Amino acid sequence: MSIYLDHNATTAPDREVVAAVAWAMAQAWGNPSTLYRDGREARATLDAARARVASLIGASDPSEVVFTSGGTESDHLALTGSLGPGRGDHLITAMAEHKAVLRTCAQLEQRGLRVTYLPVDGLGRVDPDAVRRAITPRTALCSVMLANNEVGTVNPLPEIASICRERRVTLHCDAVQALGRLPVDVAALGVDLLSLSGHKLHGPRGVGALWMRRGTVLQSVLAGGSQERGVRPGSENVPGAHGLGVAAELARQRLAETTARVRSLRDRLWDQLRAAVPGARAHGDLERGLCNVLNVSFPGREAEELVLSLDEEGIEVGTGSACTTGQTTPSHVLLAMGVSPDEARCSIRFSLGQGNSPSEIDEVAAVVSRLVGRSACRS
Ligand SMILES: Cc1ncc(COP(=O)(O)O)c(C=O)c1O
Repeated sequence: MSIYLDHNATTAPDREVVAAVAWAMAQAWGNPSTLYRDGREARATLDAARARVASLIGASDPSEVVFTSGGTESDHLALTGSLGPGRGDHLITAMAEHKAVLRTCAQLEQRGLRVTYLPVDGLGRVDPDAVRRAITPRTALCSVMLANNEVGTVNPLPEIASICRERRVTLHCDAVQALGRLPVDVAALGVDLLSLSGHKLHGPRGVGALWMRRGTVLQSVLAGGSQERGVRPGSENVPGAHGLGVAAELARQRLAETTARVRSLRDRLWDQLRAAVPGARAHGDLERGLCNVLNVSFPGREAEELVLSLDEEGIEVGTGSACTTGQTTPSHVLLAMGVSPDEARCSIRFSLGQGNSPSEIDEVAAVVSRLVGRSACRS
């Protein structure tokens, strides 16, 4: 069995989630848009899942939750749907956002919309004053993630929200990595749109949701039926939504215990690594960022090579870099934070989860120290 420390890439579905999805496939297979009993039962299952998702994010009205196929679609729908004809043609986002946001922005630019990409500071944070300065009378939307997937930094969403509210700009927040790792309350955050994804919180992959504050108007991106209030046409994925609902309920119940335990494991890992590997540098905000993320660069040690060596030792971790056609592209997040391309190529991301144990962490620290120490001797 491998030691899995890549929970920001995906999480294993909880056993209860697997059972819930199987149950819904067998028992709640009806089409929720139909009037007879099987349809009504599927509708009831879907609406119960909606209520559970709403409860995880502190939303008082479950009808504000729209099910989608995941975080990417939720982000795309929020951005593209907010910028239809008759709205402003300017959008504000940040350089350290996920590609689901950044590539949607690039598409929108190709259609003639204007996008401002705000810089982030050395920890990966957006400055609310920069949002204030970027807003123009043509700004329709601002999109800032709650917690960064690569470094775990948490953005000051309530401050950004109060500026957006004052200037009547809709605020979208990608909270995909925050759910289950941070208390998330849409009222306290003050956002209008919030994306989430099942597979980052031990739910099924291929299902997610977009929460829309009542009164927020979105144009659907797909054309079709009137499912999900017409915002997201297409026959609903009832088993996926049910699995997401169960995962949301479990995440809500476990949040306090999980975050405290995972944070102490993450700190234990960093304490051992920094003692054993001179020059190791952690990126992001360990104090106020996500409890489960440790992004570290080991000077002189290419991330991909290290990830593969760790895999041979039965340890699974992520790199922030995307490998395309054999070339390692340094992470856009680390570059935006001012990390040099060389150092960014040497960074790996440990992202912990509820199943990790202290002995696993000690083993990982020992193996990494041995591998990195060995490479340092060679070079
Ligand atoms: C911050 C963030 N947003 C969006 C996504 C995309 O979510 P999904 O994989 O459900 O499409 C991810 C996935 O890695 C993510 O980390």
